[in-house]
Amino acid sequence: MAHPVLIAAELQRLLAPEQLVGLDVTWLPTDQPTPAGDYVALVPLLSRWVGGSELKRLPKLKIVANCAVGHDNVDVVAAEMRRVTVTNTPDVLTDATADLAWALILACARHVVPGTELVKSGSWTGWHPELLLGIELRGRTLGLFGAGRIGQAVGRRAVPFGMRVLYTARNPRPDFERESGAIRVEFSRLLKDSDVLSLHAPSVPETKGIINADTLRQMKPGALLINTARGDLIREEALAQALEEGRLGGAGLDVYLEEPAVHARLRAAPRAVLLPHIGSATLEARRQMATIALANVQAVLKGDPPLTPVFG
Ligand code: GLV
Repeated sequence: MAHPVLIAAELQRLLAPEQLVGLDVTWLPTDQPTPAGDYVALVPLLSRWVGGSELKRLPKLKIVANCAVGHDNVDVVAAEMRRVTVTNTPDVLTDATADLAWALILACARHVVPGTELVKSGSWTGWHPELLLGIELRGRTLGLFGAGRIGQAVGRRAVPFGMRVLYTARNPRPDFERESGAIRVEFSRLLKDSDVLSLHAPSVPETKGIINADTLRQMKPGALLINTARGDLIREEALAQALEEGRLGGAGLDVYLEEPAVHARLRAAPRAVLLPHIGSATLEARRQMATIALANVQAVLKGDPPLTPVFG
């Protein structure tokens, strides 16, 4: 008998029929609440909160296969208590997300968005030696807050740009240090010395609001702040204020506190490059994310260990 499963409807086109063999799929659109029922697997997008009450309404659930590397949308403790496996989709989106972080770094450093707007509006008056002067990256310092897979991939890309790399992480990363010359420092030094500060930490109690009025004040004047991790790492009002006051050289953001709503002051802030959470948005990465999520479901339903569990 086919296993009843709930899968985010938006994944339908990324999945091939053979990945769904043995499953009786209910496609669940994002704007609909998680239903109650005898479903044995749930494959949500990162925008669906899966907490204690949702899990309670799914008493037969064996696995939440989150289609994202972040899993802050799942109450992992509640899941563990109910013996529900939680999996994520690491590795396959590392390069796509690191590339996008670099797209934001370069866009901020070289005024790519205002340049485009100038040309498209027809108001460009010609080559000028001081038009849209940016920041030369060679010789500058890239600071990584967090050096997991994505942070390291961003750091490795800094080498051909001639940047020095600093990072904070709970544990030293000797291989990464060898490859990139990166140096592990205290957070206070990262703030003080980074010309570009890029966030690559998960949303957990210790990282929420880590970029706030106080830490923004400790950053180098004119520095760029990049966030492709999670929106709640930043206090958005404080960042908007730092941009309004010209203390930062720019901010490149792909994630926000209340997605898809974006703080009005941030939307209006100068030198802010704002993307709609597309860090992993390449066809390759998105297909592989959906594939891993389904492989986790199939493994757990067969009684095999999950491929990419987030605990246990
Ligand atoms: C995207 O933000 C993800 O966590 O995969």
